[in-house]
Amino acid sequence: TTEQNVLFTIFGGTGDLAKRKLYPSLYRLYKKGFLKEHFAVIGTARREWTNDYYREIIKETISDLVISEETATEFASHFYYQSHNVNDAEHYVNLKKLAEELDDSYQINGNRLFYLAMSPNFFGTITQQLNQQGLVSTNGFNRLIIEKPFGHDYESASILNEQLREVFDENQIFRIDHYLGKEMVQNISTVRFANNMIESMWNNRYIDNIQITLSESLGVEERGGYYDKSGALRDMVQNHILQIVSLLAMEPPAKLTDIDIRNEKIKALRAVRLFNPEEVKENFVRAQYDVGTNNDSLLNKYQNELNVAEDSQTETFVAGKVLIDTFRWKGVPFYIRTGKRMAEKGTQINVVFKNVPLNLFSEDVEEELPPNVLTIFIQPTEGFSLQLNTKKAGIGLETETFDLKHIHSAETVANSPEAYEKLLFDCLNGDATNFTHWDEVASSWKFVDVIRNEWDQNKTDLTSYPSGSMGPTESDDLLAKDGFSWYWNPEIPK
Ligand code: BG6
Repeated sequence: TTEQNVLFTIFGGTGDLAKRKLYPSLYRLYKKGFLKEHFAVIGTARREWTNDYYREIIKETISDLVISEETATEFASHFYYQSHNVNDAEHYVNLKKLAEELDDSYQINGNRLFYLAMSPNFFGTITQQLNQQGLVSTNGFNRLIIEKPFGHDYESASILNEQLREVFDENQIFRIDHYLGKEMVQNISTVRFANNMIESMWNNRYIDNIQITLSESLGVEERGGYYDKSGALRDMVQNHILQIVSLLAMEPPAKLTDIDIRNEKIKALRAVRLFNPEEVKENFVRAQYDVGTNNDSLLNKYQNELNVAEDSQTETFVAGKVLIDTFRWKGVPFYIRTGKRMAEKGTQINVVFKNVPLNLFSEDVEEELPPNVLTIFIQPTEGFSLQLNTKKAGIGLETETFDLKHIHSAETVANSPEAYEKLLFDCLNGDATNFTHWDEVASSWKFVDVIRNEWDQNKTDLTSYPSGSMGPTESDDLLAKDGFSWYWNPEIPK
Protein backbone atom coordinates (compact mmCIF):
# COMPACT_ATOMS: atom_id res chain seq x y z
CA THR A 1 0.00 0.00 0.00
CA THR A 2 1.22 3.41 -0.94
CA GLU A 3 0.18 6.36 1.07
CA GLN A 4 -1.47 9.23 -0.78
CA ASN A 5 -0.64 12.83 0.04
CA VAL A 6 -3.82 14.78 -0.28
CA LEU A 7 -5.90 17.61 1.05
CA PHE A 8 -9.64 17.00 0.83
CA THR A 9 -12.07 19.88 0.86
CA ILE A 10 -15.57 18.62 1.38
CA PHE A 11 -18.38 21.04 0.58
CA GLY A 12 -21.46 19.82 2.41
CA GLY A 13 -19.27 18.54 5.24
CA THR A 14 -22.10 18.51 7.77
CA GLY A 15 -24.49 16.70 5.43
CA ASP A 16 -25.99 13.28 5.41
CA LEU A 17 -23.87 11.88 2.60
CA ALA A 18 -20.63 13.03 4.21
CA LYS A 19 -21.61 11.45 7.51
CA ARG A 20 -23.06 8.23 6.19
CA LYS A 21 -20.63 7.50 3.35
CA LEU A 22 -17.60 9.75 3.05
CA TYR A 23 -16.18 9.78 6.55
CA PRO A 24 -16.51 6.03 7.09
CA SER A 25 -14.93 5.45 3.65
CA LEU A 26 -12.04 7.78 4.43
CA TYR A 27 -11.56 5.89 7.65
CA ARG A 28 -11.42 2.55 5.85
CA LEU A 29 -8.79 3.92 3.48
CA TYR A 30 -6.88 5.18 6.48
CA LYS A 31 -7.07 1.82 8.20
CA LYS A 32 -5.67 0.16 5.09
CA GLY A 33 -2.79 2.65 4.95
CA PHE A 34 -3.79 4.54 1.80
CA LEU A 35 -4.15 7.64 3.92
CA LYS A 36 -1.62 7.99 6.68
CA GLU A 37 0.31 11.04 7.82
CA HIS A 38 0.16 13.35 4.86
CA PHE A 39 -3.53 13.97 4.54
CA ALA A 40 -5.99 16.47 5.94
CA VAL A 41 -9.65 17.13 5.46
CA ILE A 42 -11.39 20.48 5.47
CA GLY A 43 -15.09 20.11 6.08
CA THR A 44 -17.12 23.10 5.13
CA ALA A 45 -20.80 24.03 5.28
CA ARG A 46 -22.96 26.86 6.55
CA ARG A 47 -23.21 25.79 10.14
CA GLU A 48 -20.86 27.24 12.73
CA TRP A 49 -18.95 24.30 14.09
CA THR A 50 -15.64 24.22 15.93
CA ASN A 51 -12.87 21.80 15.00
CA ASP A 52 -13.51 19.95 18.24
CA TYR A 53 -17.18 19.53 17.53
CA TYR A 54 -16.48 18.44 13.96
CA ARG A 55 -14.01 15.83 15.19
CA GLU A 56 -16.56 14.48 17.63
CA ILE A 57 -18.96 14.05 14.73
CA ILE A 58 -16.27 12.32 12.68
CA LYS A 59 -15.67 9.91 15.54
CA GLU A 60 -19.38 9.18 15.80
CA THR A 61 -19.63 8.39 12.10
CA ILE A 62 -16.88 5.79 12.37
CA SER A 63 -17.81 4.38 15.76
CA ASP A 64 -18.85 1.03 14.27
CA LEU A 65 -15.52 0.58 12.54
CA VAL A 66 -12.93 1.74 15.01
CA ILE A 67 -10.80 -0.51 17.16
CA SER A 68 -9.55 1.97 19.74
CA GLU A 69 -10.29 5.46 21.02
CA GLU A 70 -6.70 6.35 20.29
CA THR A 71 -6.98 5.46 16.60
CA ALA A 72 -10.25 7.35 16.33
CA THR A 73 -8.69 10.43 17.88
CA GLU A 74 -5.63 10.22 15.66
CA PHE A 75 -7.79 9.87 12.55
CA ALA A 76 -10.13 12.70 13.59
CA SER A 77 -7.17 15.00 14.29
CA HIS A 78 -6.70 15.30 10.50
CA PHE A 79 -10.11 16.99 10.19
CA TYR A 80 -10.67 20.76 10.21
CA TYR A 81 -13.87 22.66 9.98
CA GLN A 82 -14.46 25.98 8.30
CA SER A 83 -17.89 27.54 8.27
CA HIS A 84 -18.64 28.80 4.81
CA ASN A 85 -21.16 30.58 2.68
CA VAL A 86 -20.52 29.40 -0.87
CA ASN A 87 -21.74 32.66 -2.36
CA ASP A 88 -19.43 34.85 -0.32
CA ALA A 89 -16.05 35.43 -1.97
CA GLU A 90 -14.50 36.40 1.37
CA HIS A 91 -14.98 32.92 2.70
CA TYR A 92 -12.79 31.40 0.03
CA VAL A 93 -9.97 33.59 1.25
CA ASN A 94 -10.26 31.90 4.64
CA LEU A 95 -10.46 28.51 3.04
CA LYS A 96 -7.36 29.23 1.02
CA LYS A 97 -5.44 30.29 4.09
CA LEU A 98 -6.41 27.13 5.91
CA ALA A 99 -5.60 24.98 2.89
CA GLU A 100 -2.12 26.47 2.64
CA GLU A 101 -1.46 26.01 6.35
CA LEU A 102 -2.54 22.38 6.21
CA ASP A 103 -0.60 21.76 3.05
CA ASP A 104 2.53 22.94 4.89
CA SER A 105 1.97 21.23 8.19
CA TYR A 106 1.04 17.86 6.68
CA GLN A 107 3.56 18.19 3.81
CA ILE A 108 0.94 17.48 1.22
CA ASN A 109 2.77 18.98 -1.77
CA GLY A 110 -0.23 20.54 -3.40
CA ASN A 111 -2.50 17.58 -4.12
CA ARG A 112 -6.11 18.70 -3.77
CA LEU A 113 -9.34 16.89 -3.99
CA PHE A 114 -12.52 18.93 -3.89
CA TYR A 115 -15.67 17.01 -3.08
CA LEU A 116 -18.99 18.71 -3.81
CA ALA A 117 -21.60 16.93 -1.74
CA MET A 118 -24.33 19.52 -1.79
CA SER A 119 -27.04 20.99 -3.98
CA PRO A 120 -25.89 21.08 -7.63
CA ASN A 121 -27.20 24.66 -7.83
CA PHE A 122 -23.93 25.72 -6.23
CA PHE A 123 -21.49 23.64 -8.27
CA GLY A 124 -20.86 26.42 -10.80
CA THR A 125 -20.32 29.11 -8.18
CA ILE A 126 -18.03 26.97 -6.09
CA THR A 127 -15.74 25.96 -8.93
CA GLN A 128 -15.52 29.55 -10.22
CA GLN A 129 -14.58 30.75 -6.76
CA LEU A 130 -12.05 27.98 -6.22
CA ASN A 131 -10.32 29.25 -9.30
CA GLN A 132 -10.67 32.98 -8.75
CA GLN A 133 -9.59 32.87 -5.12
CA GLY A 134 -6.63 30.67 -5.90
CA LEU A 135 -7.63 27.45 -4.15
CA VAL A 136 -6.67 25.35 -7.13
CA SER A 137 -3.09 24.35 -6.49
CA THR A 138 -0.26 24.89 -8.92
CA ASN A 139 2.15 22.22 -7.75
CA GLY A 140 0.08 19.03 -7.34
CA PHE A 141 -3.02 17.42 -8.74
CA ASN A 142 -6.45 19.04 -8.58
CA ARG A 143 -9.46 16.76 -8.79
CA LEU A 144 -13.12 17.50 -8.44
CA ILE A 145 -15.67 14.92 -7.33
CA ILE A 146 -19.28 15.80 -7.88
CA GLU A 147 -22.39 14.10 -6.70
CA LYS A 148 -25.52 13.56 -8.72
CA PRO A 149 -27.77 14.82 -10.12
CA PHE A 150 -25.71 16.20 -12.98
CA GLY A 151 -28.37 18.56 -14.33
CA HIS A 152 -32.04 17.73 -14.79
CA ASP A 153 -31.95 17.51 -18.58
CA TYR A 154 -29.40 17.78 -21.37
CA GLU A 155 -29.46 21.55 -21.46
CA SER A 156 -28.95 22.14 -17.75
CA ALA A 157 -26.29 19.43 -17.68
CA SER A 158 -24.43 21.14 -20.55
CA ILE A 159 -24.52 24.48 -18.78
CA LEU A 160 -23.23 22.91 -15.60
CA ASN A 161 -20.53 21.11 -17.51
CA GLU A 162 -19.38 24.29 -19.22
CA GLN A 163 -19.10 26.00 -15.85
CA LEU A 164 -16.97 23.19 -14.48
CA ARG A 165 -14.87 23.05 -17.62
CA GLU A 166 -13.90 26.71 -17.25
CA VAL A 167 -11.81 25.60 -14.30
CA PHE A 168 -11.22 21.86 -14.54
CA ASP A 169 -10.32 19.63 -17.48
CA GLU A 170 -12.49 16.63 -18.24
CA ASN A 171 -9.81 14.33 -16.79
CA GLN A 172 -9.92 16.23 -13.49
CA ILE A 173 -13.69 15.88 -13.11
CA PHE A 174 -14.95 12.74 -11.36
CA ARG A 175 -18.73 12.44 -11.69
CA ILE A 176 -20.10 9.99 -9.17
CA ASP A 177 -22.51 7.24 -10.05
CA HIS A 178 -22.32 5.07 -6.98
CA TYR A 179 -23.58 2.03 -8.90
CA LEU A 180 -20.20 1.98 -10.64
CA GLY A 181 -18.60 1.36 -7.28
CA LYS A 182 -20.69 -1.73 -6.60
CA GLU A 183 -18.83 -5.02 -6.59
CA MET A 184 -21.09 -6.80 -9.04
CA VAL A 185 -21.42 -3.87 -11.43
CA GLN A 186 -17.62 -3.94 -11.66
CA ASN A 187 -17.85 -7.68 -12.21
CA ILE A 188 -19.88 -7.30 -15.42
CA SER A 189 -16.71 -6.72 -17.43
CA THR A 190 -14.95 -9.65 -15.80
CA VAL A 191 -17.69 -12.12 -16.48
CA ARG A 192 -17.93 -10.91 -20.06
CA PHE A 193 -14.28 -10.57 -21.00
CA ALA A 194 -12.72 -13.36 -18.96
CA ASN A 195 -15.05 -16.12 -20.19
CA ASN A 196 -14.91 -17.09 -23.81
CA MET A 197 -18.05 -19.16 -23.42
CA ILE A 198 -19.95 -16.04 -22.50
CA GLU A 199 -18.21 -13.48 -24.67
CA SER A 200 -18.60 -15.55 -27.81
CA MET A 201 -22.35 -15.73 -27.25
CA TRP A 202 -22.72 -12.10 -26.23
CA ASN A 203 -24.60 -10.90 -29.29
CA ASN A 204 -27.86 -10.99 -31.22
CA ARG A 205 -27.23 -14.44 -32.63
CA TYR A 206 -27.58 -16.06 -29.21
CA ILE A 207 -29.26 -13.57 -26.92
CA ASP A 208 -33.01 -13.06 -27.09
CA ASN A 209 -33.38 -10.15 -24.70
CA ILE A 210 -31.72 -8.61 -21.66
CA GLN A 211 -33.66 -7.52 -18.59
CA ILE A 212 -32.45 -5.11 -15.95
CA THR A 213 -34.45 -4.63 -12.77
CA LEU A 214 -33.59 -2.18 -9.98
CA SER A 215 -36.39 -2.57 -7.50
CA GLU A 216 -36.64 -0.86 -4.16
CA SER A 217 -39.01 -1.69 -1.36
CA LEU A 218 -38.76 1.70 0.33
CA GLY A 219 -40.90 4.63 -0.72
CA VAL A 220 -39.56 8.17 -1.06
CA GLU A 221 -39.21 8.50 2.71
CA GLU A 222 -37.95 12.03 3.59
CA ARG A 223 -36.85 12.91 0.07
CA GLY A 224 -40.24 13.95 -1.32
CA GLY A 225 -39.09 17.52 -1.96
CA TYR A 226 -36.34 16.40 -4.32
CA TYR A 227 -38.01 13.31 -5.71
CA ASP A 228 -41.30 14.91 -6.66
CA LYS A 229 -39.42 17.17 -9.08
CA SER A 230 -37.24 14.37 -10.34
CA GLY A 231 -39.15 11.09 -10.70
CA ALA A 232 -37.80 7.61 -11.37
CA LEU A 233 -36.69 8.32 -14.94
CA ARG A 234 -34.27 11.03 -13.90
CA ASP A 235 -33.43 9.53 -10.53
CA MET A 236 -32.52 6.00 -11.68
CA VAL A 237 -32.70 5.55 -15.46
CA GLN A 238 -30.60 8.47 -16.67
CA ASN A 239 -27.71 7.38 -14.47
CA HIS A 240 -27.63 3.93 -12.87
CA ILE A 241 -29.64 1.97 -15.43
CA LEU A 242 -28.06 3.48 -18.52
CA GLN A 243 -24.64 2.94 -16.97
CA ILE A 244 -25.46 -0.74 -16.54
CA VAL A 245 -26.77 -0.87 -20.10
CA SER A 246 -23.51 0.62 -21.38
CA LEU A 247 -21.40 -1.94 -19.51
CA LEU A 248 -23.48 -4.79 -20.91
CA ALA A 249 -23.58 -3.41 -24.43
CA MET A 250 -20.09 -2.01 -24.98
CA GLU A 251 -17.53 -3.63 -27.25
CA PRO A 252 -14.41 -5.13 -25.66
CA PRO A 253 -12.02 -2.30 -24.82
CA ALA A 254 -8.48 -2.43 -26.22
CA LYS A 255 -7.14 -2.33 -22.66
CA LEU A 256 -8.66 -2.05 -19.21
CA THR A 257 -7.81 1.63 -18.87
CA ASP A 258 -10.25 4.38 -18.03
CA ILE A 259 -9.80 5.95 -21.46
CA ASP A 260 -10.44 2.73 -23.36
CA ILE A 261 -13.37 1.58 -21.24
CA ARG A 262 -15.11 4.91 -21.23
CA ASN A 263 -14.65 5.24 -24.98
CA GLU A 264 -16.50 1.98 -25.46
CA LYS A 265 -19.26 3.01 -23.08
CA ILE A 266 -19.64 6.31 -24.89
CA LYS A 267 -19.96 4.49 -28.21
CA ALA A 268 -22.61 2.17 -26.79
CA LEU A 269 -24.63 5.04 -25.35
CA ARG A 270 -24.42 6.96 -28.60
CA ALA A 271 -25.94 3.96 -30.34
CA VAL A 272 -29.02 3.90 -28.08
CA ARG A 273 -31.99 4.67 -30.31
CA LEU A 274 -33.78 7.94 -29.59
CA PHE A 275 -37.52 7.39 -29.81
CA ASN A 276 -40.10 9.58 -31.51
CA PRO A 277 -43.21 10.47 -29.44
CA GLU A 278 -45.19 7.54 -30.80
CA GLU A 279 -42.39 5.12 -29.91
CA VAL A 280 -42.17 6.56 -26.41
CA LYS A 281 -45.82 5.59 -25.88
CA GLU A 282 -45.21 2.11 -27.22
CA ASN A 283 -41.97 1.44 -25.40
CA PHE A 284 -42.20 3.19 -22.05
CA VAL A 285 -44.54 2.83 -19.10
CA ARG A 286 -44.67 5.08 -16.07
CA ALA A 287 -46.60 4.63 -12.88
CA GLN A 288 -46.96 5.87 -9.34
CA TYR A 289 -47.42 3.83 -6.20
CA ASP A 290 -50.83 3.61 -4.65
CA VAL A 291 -51.82 2.19 -1.28
CA GLY A 292 -50.86 -1.42 -0.73
CA THR A 293 -49.36 -3.90 1.68
CA ASN A 294 -46.01 -5.53 2.19
CA ASN A 295 -45.44 -8.16 4.86
CA ASP A 296 -48.78 -7.26 6.39
CA SER A 297 -47.94 -3.60 6.85
CA LEU A 298 -50.28 -1.11 5.28
CA LEU A 299 -48.57 1.34 2.95
CA ASN A 300 -49.51 4.87 2.02
CA LYS A 301 -49.90 6.15 -1.51
CA TYR A 302 -47.22 8.37 -3.01
CA GLN A 303 -49.44 11.45 -3.13
CA ASN A 304 -49.76 11.32 0.65
CA GLU A 305 -46.01 11.34 1.24
CA LEU A 306 -44.26 14.22 2.96
CA ASN A 307 -43.43 17.14 0.63
CA VAL A 308 -45.20 15.55 -2.33
CA ALA A 309 -47.98 17.41 -4.15
CA GLU A 310 -51.44 15.91 -3.52
CA ASP A 311 -52.08 15.78 -7.24
CA SER A 312 -48.51 14.83 -8.12
CA GLN A 313 -48.03 13.23 -11.53
CA THR A 314 -44.46 12.16 -10.79
CA GLU A 315 -43.60 8.58 -11.72
CA THR A 316 -42.17 6.31 -9.03
CA PHE A 317 -41.88 3.42 -11.47
CA VAL A 318 -40.59 3.16 -15.02
CA ALA A 319 -40.42 0.22 -17.36
CA GLY A 320 -39.14 0.51 -20.87
CA LYS A 321 -37.41 -0.92 -23.85
CA VAL A 322 -33.97 0.28 -24.87
CA LEU A 323 -32.75 -0.51 -28.36
CA ILE A 324 -29.12 -0.30 -29.33
CA ASP A 325 -28.38 0.21 -32.99
CA THR A 326 -25.13 -1.67 -33.38
CA PHE A 327 -24.20 -4.77 -35.34
CA ARG A 328 -23.97 -6.68 -32.07
CA TRP A 329 -27.34 -5.71 -30.63
CA LYS A 330 -29.67 -5.20 -33.58
CA GLY A 331 -32.95 -6.89 -32.66
CA VAL A 332 -32.15 -7.52 -28.99
CA PRO A 333 -34.37 -5.50 -26.66
CA PHE A 334 -32.92 -4.37 -23.34
CA TYR A 335 -35.92 -4.20 -21.00
CA ILE A 336 -35.42 -2.02 -17.98
CA ARG A 337 -37.56 -1.37 -14.92
CA THR A 338 -37.14 0.40 -11.65
CA GLY A 339 -39.47 1.57 -8.95
CA LYS A 340 -40.00 2.48 -5.35
CA ARG A 341 -42.28 0.57 -3.00
CA MET A 342 -41.94 -2.62 -4.95
CA ALA A 343 -42.19 -6.12 -3.52
CA GLU A 344 -38.53 -6.32 -2.59
CA LYS A 345 -35.19 -4.55 -2.69
CA GLY A 346 -33.10 -6.16 -5.37
CA THR A 347 -31.06 -5.41 -8.44
CA GLN A 348 -30.53 -8.09 -11.03
CA ILE A 349 -29.68 -8.46 -14.68
CA ASN A 350 -31.13 -11.37 -16.59
CA VAL A 351 -29.63 -12.26 -19.93
CA VAL A 352 -32.12 -14.49 -21.71
CA PHE A 353 -30.56 -16.70 -24.40
CA LYS A 354 -32.28 -17.97 -27.51
CA ASN A 355 -33.75 -21.40 -27.44
CA VAL A 356 -32.44 -24.50 -29.18
CA PRO A 357 -33.98 -24.72 -32.67
CA LEU A 358 -36.20 -27.70 -31.90
CA ASN A 359 -37.46 -29.28 -28.72
CA LEU A 360 -36.59 -32.97 -29.06
CA PHE A 361 -37.97 -33.64 -25.61
CA SER A 362 -41.57 -32.91 -26.43
CA GLU A 363 -44.16 -34.43 -28.77
CA ASP A 364 -44.41 -30.96 -30.19
CA VAL A 365 -40.98 -29.92 -31.39
CA GLU A 366 -42.15 -26.30 -31.49
CA GLU A 367 -42.91 -26.24 -27.78
CA GLU A 368 -40.44 -23.92 -26.10
CA LEU A 369 -38.06 -25.22 -23.48
CA PRO A 370 -37.29 -22.82 -20.64
CA PRO A 371 -34.51 -20.55 -21.93
CA ASN A 372 -30.95 -20.48 -20.63
CA VAL A 373 -30.72 -17.41 -18.46
CA LEU A 374 -27.61 -15.82 -17.02
CA THR A 375 -28.52 -13.86 -13.91
CA ILE A 376 -26.11 -11.30 -12.55
CA PHE A 377 -27.17 -10.51 -9.00
CA ILE A 378 -26.06 -7.00 -8.15
CA GLN A 379 -27.60 -6.61 -4.70
CA PRO A 380 -28.38 -7.55 -1.98
CA THR A 381 -27.41 -11.01 -3.22
CA GLU A 382 -24.12 -10.82 -5.13
CA GLY A 383 -23.19 -13.46 -7.67
CA PHE A 384 -24.19 -15.28 -10.82
CA SER A 385 -26.46 -18.04 -11.81
CA LEU A 386 -26.97 -19.83 -15.07
CA GLN A 387 -30.24 -21.58 -15.74
CA LEU A 388 -29.82 -24.80 -17.71
CA ASN A 389 -32.08 -27.67 -18.75
CA THR A 390 -31.32 -31.17 -17.62
CA LYS A 391 -32.83 -34.62 -17.59
CA LYS A 392 -35.10 -35.31 -14.70
CA ALA A 393 -33.67 -38.36 -12.89
CA GLY A 394 -35.69 -41.48 -13.49
CA ILE A 395 -37.35 -43.39 -16.28
CA GLY A 396 -38.13 -41.42 -19.42
CA LEU A 397 -36.69 -38.22 -20.86
CA GLU A 398 -38.50 -35.52 -19.00
CA THR A 399 -36.57 -32.27 -18.63
CA GLU A 400 -36.23 -29.91 -15.74
CA THR A 401 -34.30 -26.72 -15.17
CA PHE A 402 -31.64 -26.06 -12.59
CA ASP A 403 -29.35 -23.17 -11.70
CA LEU A 404 -25.56 -23.32 -11.72
CA LYS A 405 -24.72 -20.77 -9.07
CA HIS A 406 -21.87 -18.80 -7.67
CA ILE A 407 -23.14 -16.61 -4.86
CA HIS A 408 -20.87 -14.54 -2.63
CA SER A 409 -21.02 -15.58 1.00
CA ALA A 410 -22.42 -13.19 3.56
CA GLU A 411 -18.87 -12.79 4.81
CA THR A 412 -17.51 -11.83 1.39
CA VAL A 413 -20.30 -9.30 0.96
CA ALA A 414 -19.72 -7.85 4.41
CA ASN A 415 -15.95 -7.59 3.90
CA SER A 416 -15.91 -6.18 0.42
CA PRO A 417 -15.23 -2.45 0.25
CA GLU A 418 -18.23 -0.23 0.08
CA ALA A 419 -18.93 1.64 -3.20
CA TYR A 420 -17.75 4.99 -1.88
CA GLU A 421 -14.54 3.56 -0.52
CA LYS A 422 -13.64 2.14 -3.93
CA LEU A 423 -14.60 5.32 -5.74
CA LEU A 424 -12.56 7.53 -3.42
CA PHE A 425 -9.65 5.15 -3.79
CA ASP A 426 -9.88 5.30 -7.58
CA CYS A 427 -10.06 9.06 -7.57
CA LEU A 428 -6.99 9.28 -5.32
CA ASN A 429 -5.20 7.19 -7.92
CA GLY A 430 -6.48 9.31 -10.79
CA ASP A 431 -8.41 6.36 -12.24
CA ALA A 432 -11.65 7.55 -13.81
CA THR A 433 -12.91 4.15 -15.01
CA ASN A 434 -15.78 4.09 -12.55
CA PHE A 435 -16.85 7.69 -13.03
CA THR A 436 -19.05 8.94 -15.83
CA HIS A 437 -17.51 10.88 -18.66
CA TRP A 438 -19.35 13.96 -19.90
CA ASP A 439 -20.10 12.26 -23.22
CA GLU A 440 -21.88 9.45 -21.36
CA VAL A 441 -23.93 11.92 -19.36
CA ALA A 442 -24.81 13.85 -22.52
CA SER A 443 -26.06 10.80 -24.42
CA SER A 444 -28.02 9.57 -21.42
CA TRP A 445 -29.81 12.87 -21.02
CA LYS A 446 -30.65 13.05 -24.71
CA PHE A 447 -32.33 9.66 -24.45
CA VAL A 448 -34.19 10.57 -21.27
CA ASP A 449 -35.26 14.04 -22.49
CA VAL A 450 -37.25 12.60 -25.38
CA ILE A 451 -39.24 10.42 -23.00
CA ARG A 452 -39.65 13.15 -20.42
CA ASN A 453 -40.89 15.64 -23.03
CA GLU A 454 -43.49 13.23 -24.29
CA TRP A 455 -44.69 12.49 -20.76
CA ASP A 456 -44.84 16.15 -19.80
CA GLN A 457 -47.07 16.88 -22.76
CA ASN A 458 -49.27 13.86 -22.32
CA LYS A 459 -50.14 13.68 -18.65
CA THR A 460 -52.75 10.94 -18.97
CA ASP A 461 -50.19 8.20 -19.50
CA LEU A 462 -49.44 7.81 -15.80
CA THR A 463 -50.85 4.63 -14.27
CA SER A 464 -50.61 3.29 -10.74
CA TYR A 465 -49.50 0.11 -8.98
CA PRO A 466 -50.17 -1.18 -5.52
CA SER A 467 -47.33 -0.61 -3.05
CA GLY A 468 -45.59 -3.91 -2.47
CA SER A 469 -46.09 -5.20 -6.03
CA MET A 470 -43.69 -5.56 -8.97
CA GLY A 471 -45.29 -2.63 -10.81
CA PRO A 472 -48.36 -2.08 -13.00
CA THR A 473 -49.73 -4.67 -15.45
CA GLU A 474 -48.69 -2.33 -18.29
CA SER A 475 -45.11 -3.27 -17.45
CA ASP A 476 -45.89 -6.93 -18.11
CA ASP A 477 -47.77 -6.02 -21.28
CA LEU A 478 -44.68 -4.26 -22.58
CA LEU A 479 -42.82 -7.58 -22.75
CA ALA A 480 -45.87 -9.66 -23.62
CA LYS A 481 -46.26 -7.64 -26.85
CA ASP A 482 -42.86 -9.00 -27.90
CA GLY A 483 -43.63 -12.52 -26.68
CA PHE A 484 -41.49 -12.25 -23.52
CA SER A 485 -42.11 -11.94 -19.81
CA TRP A 486 -40.16 -10.51 -16.91
CA TYR A 487 -37.78 -12.99 -15.42
CA TRP A 488 -37.04 -12.66 -11.73
CA ASN A 489 -34.56 -14.99 -10.11
CA PRO A 490 -35.73 -15.56 -6.56
CA GLU A 491 -32.33 -16.34 -5.03
CA ILE A 492 -32.52 -15.77 -1.29
CA PRO A 493 -29.25 -14.64 0.34
CA LYS A 494 -27.77 -17.27 2.60
C1 BG6 B 1 -29.97 7.01 -5.66
C2 BG6 B 1 -31.37 7.52 -5.83
O1 BG6 B 1 -29.16 7.49 -6.70
O2 BG6 B 1 -29.95 5.61 -5.65
C3 BG6 B 1 -32.28 6.95 -4.76
O3 BG6 B 1 -31.41 8.93 -5.77
C4 BG6 B 1 -32.16 5.45 -4.70
O4 BG6 B 1 -33.64 7.33 -4.99
C5 BG6 B 1 -30.71 5.02 -4.60
O5 BG6 B 1 -32.87 4.99 -3.57
C6 BG6 B 1 -30.56 3.51 -4.71
O6 BG6 B 1 -29.24 3.16 -4.41
P1 BG6 B 1 -28.90 1.75 -3.76
O7 BG6 B 1 -27.42 1.73 -3.67
O8 BG6 B 1 -29.59 1.68 -2.44
O9 BG6 B 1 -29.45 0.72 -4.70
